[in-house]
Amino acid sequence: MSSITQVNYPRMSELKRTTAEVHDNLDNKIMAQSPFASKENYGDFLRFQYLLLKHVEPIYQSEQLIVFFSDLAQRNRCTDIVLDLHDIGMKTHNLEQQIDINSLTIAQAVGWLYVIEGSKLGAAMLAKEVTQLDLNAEFGARFLAGPGNGRGSQWRGFMQAVEALNLTNDEEQQLYQGAKQAFATAHQLLDVVYQ
Ligand code: HEM
Repeated sequence: MSSITQVNYPRMSELKRTTAEVHDNLDNKIMAQSPFASKENYGDFLRFQYLLLKHVEPIYQSEQLIVFFSDLAQRNRCTDIVLDLHDIGMKTHNLEQQIDINSLTIAQAVGWLYVIEGSKLGAAMLAKEVTQLDLNAEFGARFLAGPGNGRGSQWRGFMQAVEALNLTNDEEQQLYQGAKQAFATAHQLLDVVYQ
């Protein structure tokens, strides 16, 4: 990470630093399953992503969070991923469970949001890989596509909103804790699909 990012986005830098290892483990665990080697493999990957996006959907619908992230509802990719599952002839998974938003503080919920919003950055790379399977932003891989106004500007908007939050020291810790919980849940959901 560049020093400019560290100076201008100290919270975002810390979020990245504290979750770098668990991110790498997750990335490696997914890639070990060769998700783009066949449509069947991609189907498993899609199911995992569906479980994760569905799990966090209440965060994207939170009236408390929309105060800080005005475009929160538009950031939700649940509709896209349901269409992707239908495109490739899969039913939605019946193991889905949603997070209880009331069990999270606002700072924790923002930590969760960081993980899901951040995953859109890696999605830029995955969107290229998926074209091998003749899938794209209009068919089968909508959820990997960037937003109309560009990934960079959406991510910058998110980073600025996180940095602008007024948090106590305790809440700051809850932010990092929320991000770690989200990655831990992602690992669990991956195990559900690949068990
Ligand atoms: C095969 C799967 C994945 C690969 C190859 C991958 C790859 C990447 C890459 C290359 C970036 C950095 C992009 C950039 O800086 O422009 C990134 C960022 C990120 N990814 Fe992933 N990713 C994967 C899966 C995931 C998943 C499943 C999650 C969440 C559950 C996730 C969460 C994040 C987060 C939070 C960031 C932002 C890091 C930051 O800059 O603060 N990734 N990923």
